[in-house]
Amino acid sequence: MKYNFDKRVDRRENNSAKWDEMGKNFGNNELLPMWIADMDFETAPEILDEMKNKLEQKIFGYVSRSDSYYQSAIEWSKNRYNYDIDFNTIIHSPGVIPTISIVLKHFTKNTDKIMIQTPVYPPFAGTIKNSDRILVENKLIQDSNANWVIDFEDFEAKAKDENLKWFILCNPHNPVGRIWKKEELKKIADICLKYDLRVISDEIWRDIVFKGHEFTAFASLSKEVEDITITCFSATKTFNLAGLQASFAVFPRKVELELFEAKLASLDIKRNNVFSLVAIEAAFNKGEDWLNELLEYLEGNIDLVVEYVQKNIPELKITKSEGTYLVWLDFRELNLSNEEISKALIEEGKIALNEGSSFGDVGSGFARMNIACPRYMVQDAIERVGKVVKSLRK
Ligand SMILES: Cc1ncc(COP(=O)(O)O)c(C=O)c1O
Repeated sequence: MKYNFDKRVDRRENNSAKWDEMGKNFGNNELLPMWIADMDFETAPEILDEMKNKLEQKIFGYVSRSDSYYQSAIEWSKNRYNYDIDFNTIIHSPGVIPTISIVLKHFTKNTDKIMIQTPVYPPFAGTIKNSDRILVENKLIQDSNANWVIDFEDFEAKAKDENLKWFILCNPHNPVGRIWKKEELKKIADICLKYDLRVISDEIWRDIVFKGHEFTAFASLSKEVEDITITCFSATKTFNLAGLQASFAVFPRKVELELFEAKLASLDIKRNNVFSLVAIEAAFNKGEDWLNELLEYLEGNIDLVVEYVQKNIPELKITKSEGTYLVWLDFRELNLSNEEISKALIEEGKIALNEGSSFGDVGSGFARMNIACPRYMVQDAIERVGKVVKSLRK
């Protein structure tokens, strides 16, 4: 391996949300932080070099985006996913959630219903509620092998409601770790086209996909599908750059692109910060080797957790994530409330996981573990969880 993902890091007191906000969120700052989805790895040296060059210039005034910035994202999308993005349809946004929020506020009415697939990243429900729109849930279900799948019957029944206007897709899916297959996406697309449903496709996790699985960009399915879709992605999740706060959005409809651009301008948030420009372009142009090694390392971490659970914690159920650096742990066999599980994890395990119910009711009895950290931390984490389950078993 050219890159060292085993390197021990201590991010305490460096303004890291993951390490320094545990007191606020869990009542204890001395936990093992396996929650919020960033990584305890240094970013790629190829990115750091470009950032250092920028630092050396010693001037950090307002920045102007070059075409090559967008071009790097377009080429990455084409080369890795065969997803063709027209240069005239792509735009910067300070983040994926800000994009979703602006679209909901300005492209919909308050009688409109918006559908999401729970359990899902909590800000999806949050932005719908904050925008005063009506939330509709198409709950994911588990098949006979406990794999998470889409309830298409329910999806179509809900799509028939003429007040249901938009669907927010999470692909790859946080927290269950599914990479939706092309056939599944086609089925979604057929229903959306049939019932005139627009789609926001959140593809922020698209680069974190493990062997044997293939990511498909929803808009790449066909021209017709592209036309009903707004796609969001970024390099921040992949290269651990979330603190730089920059993402991309693709608006195939010119009027919508212009409306979105006008809203960013009216809030005066249309520019990148100076470091995000160089870091993201370097990530897409020079980060592939680093990413390929990262994926191997992350899959090793996931395998460690899955094997440990299957061997040592029979009450806990787990299905191997197909992508993302998240593991969705099923504590339901213990028959405990969410509060009891969280309390035990914090007080006995001294570990911070995201409580499953925050992803929607269907997440009750689950917890999400972020395994994007050096392996010694993952080993420690799963042993702590094992200890907690053992104590709850008694
Ligand atoms: C599915 C999903 N969308 C969006 C985000 C956050 O994106 P941003 O920081 O660009 O708003 C996350 C972060 O974990 C995520 O998991």
